[in-house]
Amino acid sequence: VARILEAVVGAVTVPVTLKIRTGWDPSHRNAPAIARIAEEAGVKAITVHGRTRACGFSGQAEYRTIRAVKDAVSIPVIANGDIDSPGKAAAVLAETGADAVMVGRAALGRPWIFRTLLAEPGTAESGWTPDERETRGVILEHLHDLYGFYGEPQGVRIARKHLGWYLDHLPHPLDFMRSFHAETTAAGQLALAESLF
Ligand SMILES: Cc1cc2nc3c(=O)[nH]c(=O)nc-3n(C[C@H](O)[C@H](O)[C@H](O)COP(=O)(O)O)c2cc1C
Repeated sequence: VARILEAVVGAVTVPVTLKIRTGWDPSHRNAPAIARIAEEAGVKAITVHGRTRACGFSGQAEYRTIRAVKDAVSIPVIANGDIDSPGKAAAVLAETGADAVMVGRAALGRPWIFRTLLAEPGTAESGWTPDERETRGVILEHLHDLYGFYGEPQGVRIARKHLGWYLDHLPHPLDFMRSFHAETTAAGQLALAESLF
């Protein structure tokens, strides 16, 4: 690990950050040792997902090991795993002493979650969701960005999974995703997405 990180840090002029899990499996949680190696190699911040490699995505993320990483290094530590609400974000920050949290799955189909995570738990702002007009705007802008960034053929493919995630939280006709999957052009996908509203 030291050799890999030193090579990366030495090869680029930008700050290098690292993202790791807590260890191989629950009896080999080596994240604090890896974090120290990373800090010595010149890594500038470290994110820890509170599961081991062997755990995959099963069970609950645990935060004690992230606390141990925070205690082991002086570079910023970012806590990750199962954070899906302002209350959970506040609890994880308190338990780990981390400098920040990272959110993955809870943002799929709900990219506005970042706006609510900073709100005081239990307030109206913490439960905020966009109205229909704003939701439509976010989805259409996201689709345009996918086509622009990846190019149309790949963007169209990637758009399918994102639209599926948006629909997890939106009312839609039963066969909508089947029609969306059948669309092979950006224009066709955009028209279908607009028809949701
Ligand atoms: C669809 C998907 C793609 C992911 N891609 C990456 C990736 O490219 N690099 C990475 O370090 N983690 C990746 N992850 C893991 C997440 O960054 C995160 O560590 C994990 O999902 C736990 O956080 P969460 O409970 O907030 O989702 C991915 C997760 C998902 C669900």
